[in-house]
Amino acid sequence: MTTPTIELKPSAHPLVDAEREAILADPGFGRHFTDHMVTIKWTEGRGWHDGQLVPYAPIPIDPATHVLHYAQEIFEGLKAYRRPDGSVATFRPEKNAERFQRSARRLAMPELPVETFIAACDALVGQDKAWVPAHGGEESLYLRPFMIATEVGLGVKPANEYLFLVIASPAGAYFPGGVKPVSIWVSEDRVRAVPGGMGDAKTGGNYAASLLAQAEAAAKGCDQVCYLDAVDHTWVEELGGMNLYFVYGNKIVTPALSGSILEGVTRDSLLSVARDLGYEAVEERISVEQWQRDTENGTLTEVFACGTAAVITPVGTVKRAGGEWHQSGGEPGEVTLRLRRALLDIQRGTAEDKHGWMHPL
Ligand code: COI
Repeated sequence: MTTPTIELKPSAHPLVDAEREAILADPGFGRHFTDHMVTIKWTEGRGWHDGQLVPYAPIPIDPATHVLHYAQEIFEGLKAYRRPDGSVATFRPEKNAERFQRSARRLAMPELPVETFIAACDALVGQDKAWVPAHGGEESLYLRPFMIATEVGLGVKPANEYLFLVIASPAGAYFPGGVKPVSIWVSEDRVRAVPGGMGDAKTGGNYAASLLAQAEAAAKGCDQVCYLDAVDHTWVEELGGMNLYFVYGNKIVTPALSGSILEGVTRDSLLSVARDLGYEAVEERISVEQWQRDTENGTLTEVFACGTAAVITPVGTVKRAGGEWHQSGGEPGEVTLRLRRALLDIQRGTAEDKHGWMHPL
């Protein structure tokens, strides 16, 4: 595999400080983008080449570009945090780089070397460091590495040209309510992914597939949709863009990977954080019947969603065709908040990084 260098061509006109500061005061999620982006090309027979850090700008796309028709696309999400001393670090970028390679394999795309993925993120964060929000709040800089098939032509086959990009966006809370519990609609007919499909790859198609059920959830008055497995329509899989955790007192359970669940970096990190705090943390199958029954009999004390964008978000009301129930009286649970705090403290550099997860720039 070739490992290209990244040529720095910074903008002569970055956003003025006052405008950037105004954005950082209330960034929202995914609404504003930093001054630069990284691009790296891949061409069959030549491999990775032409790595560049350039001003953020639209990319020209021929109407017959492969990705527009056949959705050969993958992406990642990771964050850079400001630490108390003003320095900046990203969280577990190698985990995202490895998942990006797995996603690439599933979509018949070329694999970007892990070190190139990390170097591209470092180059962008290094250049646009002023966009990393101040230490002390909930905000961070969200990085969105992605790859698209850029061959022009309508033949259905793996493309012979690709473009890898990294863009960055200052991020506040993913849900406008912050840590306020979200409501969930359990979809028992629509599925997100099937065995043998692409559910464990981070590709735009999975998110497109989730939008109708998400709209149905909204019509039921819920914030998010929860998917069950595609075969038995019984086993809890994940939300549209987040994994789930179930708290049984001192035991914390996340649905076991099934091939159609995305292996979240936050999900994986929480297994370790929970064990560090003395909880038993396990991956097990959990049915929607069990979810409802154990909440009603009081053994299932809290449920929360997790992901890079959403961090840890408590689940409040849950609705399905056969009923409705409420986790932890509709308030964020104690264990949920404890795990959230422990993870954020590591990410923001105020707790010991005993697993070596932080990648300082
Ligand atoms: C993330 O948490 O990074 C995600 O990719 C979820 C969503 C914003 C697509």
